[in-house]
Amino acid sequence: AGPSGGGGSSTARQINHITVFGAGLMGGGIAQVAAQAGLKVTLTDVNEAALKRGLGAIAQSVARVGKKKAPDNVEAFVAKVLGNIKTTVDPTEAVKDADLVVEAVIENLKLKQDLFAKLDKVAKPSAIFATNTSSLLVGDVGATLPEARQRLFAGLHFFSPVPVMKLVEVIRGPKTEDSVIDALLVLAKRMHKVAVRAPDKPGFIVNRLLIPYKLEAARMLERGDATVEDIDIAMKLGAGYPMGPFELFDMVGLDITKFVSEGWKEYAERGLIPAELVKPSPLIEKMVSEGKIGRKAGKGFYDYT
Ligand code: CAA
Repeated sequence: AGPSGGGGSSTARQINHITVFGAGLMGGGIAQVAAQAGLKVTLTDVNEAALKRGLGAIAQSVARVGKKKAPDNVEAFVAKVLGNIKTTVDPTEAVKDADLVVEAVIENLKLKQDLFAKLDKVAKPSAIFATNTSSLLVGDVGATLPEARQRLFAGLHFFSPVPVMKLVEVIRGPKTEDSVIDALLVLAKRMHKVAVRAPDKPGFIVNRLLIPYKLEAARMLERGDATVEDIDIAMKLGAGYPMGPFELFDMVGLDITKFVSEGWKEYAERGLIPAELVKPSPLIEKMVSEGKIGRKAGKGFYDYT
C-alpha cells in the first residue's frame, strides 16, 4: 500500500506519536520537547547503552525545565514527561505506531538514506518522514525513497540545545505535499517552537550563515589575529551573540562542523555554495583528530574537566 493523502487538508494529518532515531544531543532533545508537549514518543538508537545515556541527559534537562514550570514538584514533572517516552533498539517496533518519524543520526547521506529505506517498509503508509539534517539537502536525503513516501518527506531542523532554542526550520523537499508542511508547522507550535520555512539549500537559513561565520573565526585563530577568549568576548559583547564562536564550536561539537564543511565540498562543486566560504579549517581537522571535539569530550577550545 502506498501512503494515503494526495493533497489532504492540514487537519487530516494528526501527529500524536513521534518516533525519533538517534538518542544523541539532537535526537534526545527532540524526544524531550515532544514528550513535554504531551505527545507519545518512541526514542530509538543502535544499542541500549546509547538509549540509557540519552535518557539520562533528557532526565537532567527536564529537571531544569521542571524547576521553572513546576517548582513545587519537579520529580512529578520529570516522571510525567519521561512517562511519555518509550525506548527500543528494534527499528520495526519503533516505527509501527508512528505518525511522524524523525531521523537525527550522524550526518552521513548513505546512512540516512538506508535507514529511511528500511523504515519505509515497516512504517504506516501515512507516516510522515522527516530529517533533522543540518547540512545535507533534504532532497538528497529523501531521493532514494519511493515516490509515495517522498510526498510525505520533509526537513524538520532543530537547534542546540533543543529544549531552549525556540526555532525550527521546516524544509520542503522536491515532492513534499502541502498537508505535510502544514502538519509540521502545527506540530512545531504544539512543541512551543517558532517555525520558519527554509529553502532546501546547503545550511537552510541558520547554518548557511553560522557555519561560514564559525569557520572564519577558526581562520582568524589560524592567522594568529586574536585569541580564542578575545574573539568570544568580542562577539558576545560587541555583537550581542549569547555565545562566542568557539563556545559554540564546543557546544555543538567540532566533529559536526568538520563533517559539514567536508560534505559541502560537493555542494560547492555543484555551485550551490561558494567554495571559499566552506573551505575546511586545518585547525579544526587537527583538533578533531586529537579528540578535542568539545564539551561532550571534556575538551575543545576550552577545558570542561
Ligand atoms: N535543558 C534545559 N534547560 C536549559 C538547557 C538544557 N540543556 N540549557 C540551558 N537551559 C536553560 C537554563 O536552565 C536557563 O534557564 P533560566 O534562564 O530560565 O534559568 C537558560 O536556559 C539559560 O541557561 P544558562 O543560564 O545555563 O546559560 P546561558 O544564559 O548562557 O544560556 C544558551 C545558554 C541557551 C545555550 C545560550 O548561551 C545560547 O543561546 N547560546 C547559543 C546557542 C546557539 O547558537 N545554538 C545554535 C547552535 S547551531 C545548531 O544547533 C545547528 C545545528 O544544526 C547543529
